[in-house]
Amino acid sequence: MENFQYHNPTKLLFGKGQLDALKTEIPLYGKRVLLLYGGGSIKRSGLYDNVMTLLREIDAFTVELNGVEPNPRLTTVNKGIQLIKENNLDFILAVGGGSVIDCAKAIAAGSHYGGDVWDIVTKKTPVTSALPIGTVLTLAATGSEMNGGSVITNWDAQDKRSFGSIHTFPKFSVLDPELTFSVPRDQTVYGIVDIMSHVLEQYFHASTNAPLQERIGESILRTVIEIAPKLVNNLENYSYREVMMLNGTFALNGTLSMGVKTDWATHMIEHAVSAVHDIPHGGGLAILLPHWMAHVAKQKPEKVVQLGVRVFDIDSEGKTAMEVANETIATLRSFWNSIGAPSTLADYEIDDKELELMSERAMVATTIGGYIPLKQEDVKAILRNAL
Ligand code: NZQ
Ligand code: ZN
Repeated sequence: MENFQYHNPTKLLFGKGQLDALKTEIPLYGKRVLLLYGGGSIKRSGLYDNVMTLLREIDAFTVELNGVEPNPRLTTVNKGIQLIKENNLDFILAVGGGSVIDCAKAIAAGSHYGGDVWDIVTKKTPVTSALPIGTVLTLAATGSEMNGGSVITNWDAQDKRSFGSIHTFPKFSVLDPELTFSVPRDQTVYGIVDIMSHVLEQYFHASTNAPLQERIGESILRTVIEIAPKLVNNLENYSYREVMMLNGTFALNGTLSMGVKTDWATHMIEHAVSAVHDIPHGGGLAILLPHWMAHVAKQKPEKVVQLGVRVFDIDSEGKTAMEVANETIATLRSFWNSIGAPSTLADYEIDDKELELMSERAMVATTIGGYIPLKQEDVKAILRNAL
């Protein structure tokens, strides 16, 4: 294991009816609130009305910013920063999925910074302070509700970048599984793929002697694999939704990355693809991750084999490492296909035209990925195989 520090300051408020906790939590941080939400799902579900009632009950001065895009845009972040400054707001309440929460984090950090917030998103400027944020999660996927990470798209520059800071962890997150009942089947599937990918990005690490972290990751994967097929056919089942929600949060709240050098190459490649083509994050991952795994298995099949044997119960008796690795990758791909995830870039009408640009955008450093460092040529090969 590598040396590490672990500090996760987010308070979770988990279960039915936890929304009421907004009345006690928000006043701890402020009473001039920016209410941030997406394209309207919270209005259709009635959640918006419930949140507004609670904000009125605590006499909060509320300014709204709606229309946060899936793959949130820098332009929306800038609108939020402007509203904070104009109205002297002191708290941000993000109600939605990962996009709304990520946007809140960038607004929170940007409103404490005098310069261009893109400097923060591209990590040119470190975050030294941020406005406090709280979240009401409506979609189990990103883990953004219990981490300090944020992913923002600069659409004009066709660039999607991420930053993270201890200052942008939510102060609290309301996790009521009932609020995810209305998530449609396709978004539910993307969320499932994202959760599993987060585990895999950390499971494939470049460190040694991390059996606990790996076993926790395997538990999350096995739990998700057990629940996912039931959930996608029964979207309003509380038991399935609550299990998925907790798995999503724990897949990316820092637990699995303790003491290990993680990979994340597939996420960087997916962010590049969605920066150029605006596809759903989980859909992109379902296409790319098996191809990434096939690429790295050629050099280092051991972890793929471990995954296959321990998570997919593959019988390795009498087989070579490459045979088990290939079987593992095929099993992962067919599991995702079985719940309705896409499998080729052509499913999103993406061809080889922008392969060069996408591979260039993925290279946020000279090489990407911890398990096996990838060069731009490797990224291009992965993208080409995914066409
Ligand atoms: O905008 P609304 O109308 O709310 O609709 C959203 C959106 O269209 C809808 N939705 C959310 N909750 C719903 C619902 N529809 C019905 N009922 C509900 N309860 O779902 C659509 C997708 O929402 P979005 O927030 O974009 O999805 P997700 O949570 O998957 O977030 C994706 C974004 O997070 C980033 C991704 O790159 C992408 O930009 N990521 C953030 C991470 C982090 N901060 O740690 C890590 C991830 O790896 C990821 O990169
Ligand atoms: Zn992700």
